[in-house]
Amino acid sequence: MAQEVRGVIAPGKNEPVRIETIVVPDPGPGEAVVRVQACGVCHTDLHYKQGGISDDFPFLLGHEAAGVVESVGDGVTDVAPGDFVILNWRAVCGQCRACLRGRPWYCFNTHNAKQKMTLTDGTELSPALGIGAFAEKTLVAAGQCTKVDPAASPAVAGLLGCGVMAGIGAAINTGNVGRGDSVAVIGCGGVGGAAVAGSRLAGAARIIAVDIDDRKLATAKALGATHTVNSRETDAVEKIRELTGGFGADVVIEAVGRPETYQQAFYARDLAGTVVLVGVPTPEMKLELPLLDVFGRGGALKSSWYGDCLPSRDFPMLIDLYLQGRLDLEAFVTETIQLDEVEKAFERMHEGDVLRSVVVF
Ligand code: APR
Ligand code: ZN
Ligand code: ZN
Repeated sequence: MAQEVRGVIAPGKNEPVRIETIVVPDPGPGEAVVRVQACGVCHTDLHYKQGGISDDFPFLLGHEAAGVVESVGDGVTDVAPGDFVILNWRAVCGQCRACLRGRPWYCFNTHNAKQKMTLTDGTELSPALGIGAFAEKTLVAAGQCTKVDPAASPAVAGLLGCGVMAGIGAAINTGNVGRGDSVAVIGCGGVGGAAVAGSRLAGAARIIAVDIDDRKLATAKALGATHTVNSRETDAVEKIRELTGGFGADVVIEAVGRPETYQQAFYARDLAGTVVLVGVPTPEMKLELPLLDVFGRGGALKSSWYGDCLPSRDFPMLIDLYLQGRLDLEAFVTETIQLDEVEKAFERMHEGDVLRSVVVF
């Protein structure tokens, strides 16, 4: 029998979000219903609300979530009711070209639930990133549920479902940061902060955090930055070079998503170094670089989608490292809030004083 729960929807472009009754169908074949315990507020939710991602209103927002599987449909064998899971937006298909050539972190046929959640009048909802977890319960494809150690708190675990995974993965998966490397991270919000934490985890010897906000630099320091640079006051490229023996960093991670900061990343790396773009640009942004510099400086210019993560590989591992005290995931939870405070959390996001606000149920 379908259930009725409370959830936060974005009704139309730039309209304030509101709580509505959501009808959650019983899971069909390959699907699962998850009782959501915590869900972080991410920029992508705000972009949905602003109409920046698609026009398929109304959206059921929320996608950085953890919870407990309540029921599963036919044919589901990987998870069972009672499992503690982090929801992911890359439930790899196993059949697309990327999957078949052994690169499932590029899967472009990610599974979502086939059935639709609706409002009580039957209006179909579009769940953010195929998840929709600002709701007491949500319907997803079973492959979107990644089982992890239930000793982790849901508020902390859920963040691995998106932004924090993107940042850690930008360092350890895309950037391939290794023991002894020098790393610079430009932009130290939730994503960049996670890139700092990921670089520490990978054994980087020098981690330079760059931001224009001293509050973010202070958090970056707590997460493992060995040096901080306020790029409003100091030339970021010169300072990074100076802090790396005049060479530049082995890996520079751009976690803002702007041409100016990408350009800094490009020139702040050592010859043959790697630039990782994990910040998401907007469609009108353009980048101009002398092609001779692109050639002459060598190395790799990479982008990182979702931290090139493989949820089944990375989520349980990172939760284990967190439980061992080797990865401070708690630092990313600035505040826990109630379901009716999502709109306020969007405002706080603008003011820049949170890494993550997390709705707890
Ligand atoms: N130079 C350095 N830092 C900057 C600059 C700049 N010119 N402009 C902004 N920043 C800093 C902000 O001060 C903030 O600390 O970048 C950080 C951005 O962090 P958040 O707004 O918290 O965003 P976050 O969730 O970390 O996401 C960053 O990654 O996944 C993408 O869509 C996301 O593009 C966004 C980026
Ligand atoms: Zn695939
Ligand atoms: Zn997100």
